[in-house]
Amino acid sequence: MKKNTDTKLIEKILQLKEEKDAIILAHNYQRGEVQDIADFVGDSLGLSRETEELSCKMIVFCGVRFMAETAKILSPDKVVLLPSKEAGCPMADMITKEKLMKIKTEYPDAKVVSYVNTTAEVKAESNVCCTSSNALKVVQNIDAEKIIFVPDRNLANYVSKFTEKEIIPFNGYCYVHDRIRGEDIKKAKKIHPDAVVLVHPECRAEVIELADEVTSTGGMIKSAKKSKAKKFIIGTEEGLIYRLKKENPEKEFFTAGPALMCHNMKLTGLENVYLSLKEKRYKIEIKDEVQKKAKKALDRMLKYI
Ligand code: 13P
Ligand code: SF4
Repeated sequence: MKKNTDTKLIEKILQLKEEKDAIILAHNYQRGEVQDIADFVGDSLGLSRETEELSCKMIVFCGVRFMAETAKILSPDKVVLLPSKEAGCPMADMITKEKLMKIKTEYPDAKVVSYVNTTAEVKAESNVCCTSSNALKVVQNIDAEKIIFVPDRNLANYVSKFTEKEIIPFNGYCYVHDRIRGEDIKKAKKIHPDAVVLVHPECRAEVIELADEVTSTGGMIKSAKKSKAKKFIIGTEEGLIYRLKKENPEKEFFTAGPALMCHNMKLTGLENVYLSLKEKRYKIEIKDEVQKKAKKALDRMLKYI
């Protein structure tokens, strides 16, 4: 029964997509059925780059708000839609413009690197943005020895291990990644001793220490494809496992311990993608002045990589 409804909805989505000259982008953590109807599935960096290349009129961004905002900042002339109004990123909301302005006055000689998991307003007050796949490159390239790094304390800590520069971290974190403990990885390795451990840099240092590779969700997709190994322990949100299995049916993927689900990433389903296209909702709007300033920070990032 559900399959039939899905097939009908998918047909309607594809038809509307054509009529409205729209492209569907989906983050790697999206539900399987949403990944399956997307034109592009990727990590934050991959999707940002994709946005810039697109010649369509409309982008339906299946992900969380900061990702759709990033698309709008990079492509202000396109209509950018977020199918679920409530899909936010709790980590992005931990740092506000006001909090960042206060930190900037405390460290007047520092420059600000903000993770893309931030609001447009925070990006606008940053010197440069970064994603999980280019954070170190951005820090190395920016013309400053002192860097305020917002909002993820774990990513800041990870980057600080590879640079002489002074990193001033903000105390934000992702509730999904931060709950993985070293013990979880040890247990998973005991059960699957021949598995390769891939973890996201939003994880705690104790988890990163036990990993074979620390990389973005897009990096995990590439590594699993390239690797000769047959088993992998995945230290990130479990939506990624859907894509990993789909692209590598002969390999096995296991979550690193507890259920790792980002509830916000799961708010988007076929029904709200359909309504989004049909009713042009929910439109991302960013004030001109904020968009221009935030774009500078994103463009600098894209220039460094
Ligand atoms: P990626 O850029 O690695 O896909 O990460 C985005 C994110 O929200 C991680 O929690
Ligand atoms: Fe934000 Fe974490 Fe969800 Fe990524 S997984 S969107 S960082 S809450």
